[in-house]
Amino acid sequence: MLAPANVDDYRELARRRLPRQLFDYLDGGSHDELTLAANRAGLHALRLRQRVMRDVSKIDTGATVLGRDVAMPLALAPVGLAGLMAPRAEAVAARVAEAAGVPFCLSTVGVCSIEEVRAATAAPFWFQLYMMRDRGYVRELLQRAQAAGCGALVFAVDMAVLATRYRDVRNGIAGGLDLAGKLKKAWDIASHPGWVRRVALGGKPLIFGNLAAAVPNGRSLPEFKAWVDSQFDASVTWRDLDFVREHWKGPLLIKGVMEVEDARAAAACGAQGVIVSNHGGRQLDGAPPTIEALPAIADAVGNRIEVLMDSGVRGGQDIVKALASGAKSVLFGRPWIWALAGAGEAGLANLLQQTRRELETTLMLTGTTAAREVNRDLLC
Ligand code: FNR
Repeated sequence: MLAPANVDDYRELARRRLPRQLFDYLDGGSHDELTLAANRAGLHALRLRQRVMRDVSKIDTGATVLGRDVAMPLALAPVGLAGLMAPRAEAVAARVAEAAGVPFCLSTVGVCSIEEVRAATAAPFWFQLYMMRDRGYVRELLQRAQAAGCGALVFAVDMAVLATRYRDVRNGIAGGLDLAGKLKKAWDIASHPGWVRRVALGGKPLIFGNLAAAVPNGRSLPEFKAWVDSQFDASVTWRDLDFVREHWKGPLLIKGVMEVEDARAAAACGAQGVIVSNHGGRQLDGAPPTIEALPAIADAVGNRIEVLMDSGVRGGQDIVKALASGAKSVLFGRPWIWALAGAGEAGLANLLQQTRRELETTLMLTGTTAAREVNRDLLC
């Protein structure tokens, strides 16, 4: 490969650079990875209508998401531990996203803190929240996000429990390895000296930046992970939205909604939008592809709140298919990490540029001059 042409190429570059255990953590899904595959298959199965002899000499890829104009209907999804894949990945991605005119969303369990990302970008990035048992800490996180001027709170609700991911078990991500396994794991790291130099020894500590105050003596990721594991709150219900609403005054997106009834509940709780997401096939294996769940949700609540979608989106064609199925915008999860891990800041900037060009081309070949005009007529 002389130059990466698409997301798959960046994935390949990331695969070469990352220790196997990290690449698998990023790449994999839960259980048999059926939903992971279905997300792509669902998008592949949609057909676009080819239209001709229309004036498509001027194309507008812009969109308005949560009242803000963006360069294209794409955002970078929250990815936990992104900073393990590339140096200060969250801060760098926020900077690239700002230059490309698209929103960036920071995960609760990112390596960079809210404040580090704030210092890297002037744009109002989004903050994703996982509800923790320690509501006092959640309140503090929301205050910090508010103080940083975050443009939206993305409340992820599809993590009542962390699903089993066989690749992570095999790679001993959560421990449980015998001596031979531990040696192999160490060799996996040692045989990627570039990653060790750039990321592991890159300077700032690799911790969950937002949780530093919660684990004051925490020095290593396993210590932080133990705290996070003890904090996941499986008792959360729609009633807890009152607490979120009380402490977060800005726009609210509920992420992980796959059913009409849940989308209606989110709207009733005062959310400004939902993200139709199966967590990139990392939670309930057997859940349908998001592109299949999307139309009914958009029909049910799309006139009241904004409906976004992620999971399996890999380029401009997928964006058009999602818009045509009722989404206001989509999000990239793995793709932005693959680009950063595989080719650094310039790689991510290039991927976003390529994606916008692909979106433009697809609009032109479907005879459409603006992303805002895409509707179901574009689908066969
Ligand atoms: C995620 N995702 C995720 N979501 C979230 O709300 N908080 C998080 O911390 C994480 N962490 C995370 C880590 C990794 C390695 C991946 C791949 C994904 C889910 C993410 O926001 C998004 O929903 C999916 O990644 C979208 O699917 P694609 O684009 O990766 O197919």
